Amino acid sequence: MEVLKDKGAVVTAAASGIGKAIATAFIEAGASVLLCDINAKALDAAAGELGERAIGRVTDVSDESQVEAAMRAAREAFGSLDVVVNCAGFGAIMPLTELPGEKWRAVQAVTLGGVFYGVKHAARQMLEQGRPGVIINISSVNGQQAGEGQVAYCAAKAGVDQITRCGALELGARGIRVVGIAPGLVETPLTRKELEDPATRELFMGVIPMGRAVEAREIAAAAVFLASDEARSINGHTVVIDGGSLTRGYPALLTGVKKS
Ligand SMILES: NC(=O)c1ccc[n+]([C@@H]2O[C@H](COP(=O)([O-])OP(=O)(O)OC[C@H]3O[C@@H](n4cnc5c(N)ncnc54)[C@H](O)[C@@H]3O)[C@@H](O)[C@H]2O)c1
Repeated sequence: MEVLKDKGAVVTAAASGIGKAIATAFIEAGASVLLCDINAKALDAAAGELGERAIGRVTDVSDESQVEAAMRAAREAFGSLDVVVNCAGFGAIMPLTELPGEKWRAVQAVTLGGVFYGVKHAARQMLEQGRPGVIINISSVNGQQAGEGQVAYCAAKAGVDQITRCGALELGARGIRVVGIAPGLVETPLTRKELEDPATRELFMGVIPMGRAVEAREIAAAAVFLASDEARSINGHTVVIDGGSLTRGYPALLTGVKKS
């Protein structure tokens, strides 16, 4: 069923992993999607794969003017901006005492700042067009759960969860919903390299009751639901999709891996 038929959408980090899976699912659900990413080559390939309702636009989400321009361009191209997914984000696995300020700032600029700009400018377009929409922020279990060597990422994702709550609080009265998805381990280019190390994989599997990583298309299916009218009363919350890993601890990525 095309639950997003004729909707205009923006998805950031859409050239890879979770963002690409969400853009794909949105197209399948009937939406037109502006795919935003900094990787021009991968973006071209993704937009080409997804067909005529997909447009690629090189966008660095840490640059407010680029985010604003992307939201405006999507509204102009599709007639309205109905759904925005702020997906771009990354971390830096390093002991807290070693983490250079520069790396801290780079993580915050994209993972936290990019979400703020995305919510701000998505909402401005929706208010201007007089037709509300849905904003979905991709968080992580690390928004709630501390991880060794993950201070920059955990702080940024906790901030993302608060942007979701504050956005819902301020924009709800004007009909705009702001929600989040917090994935646990999803096998994507971001995590694949780590998981190639059998000791790291074992460590992760040890904390996931279901014993497997989440698939990107499962995150995408939740995004389609949250973007749809069926989810019209869900606002300000972040849905955790993690195979149950939050019930245990986060793997000890610095001290728990015994390198052979
Ligand atoms: N993979 C996981 O296990 C997992 C778990 C929880 C949360 N997440 C979150 O999901 C999101 C996507 O992760 P993924 O695993 O799909 O990663 P990925 O590495 O597969 O894709 C990330 C994409 O983001 C793009 N990107 C990087 N910086 C950007 C910027 N400044 N502006 C625009 N695009 C930029 C990259 O070019 C890449 O195409 C991230 O926010 C991540 O924190 C991932």
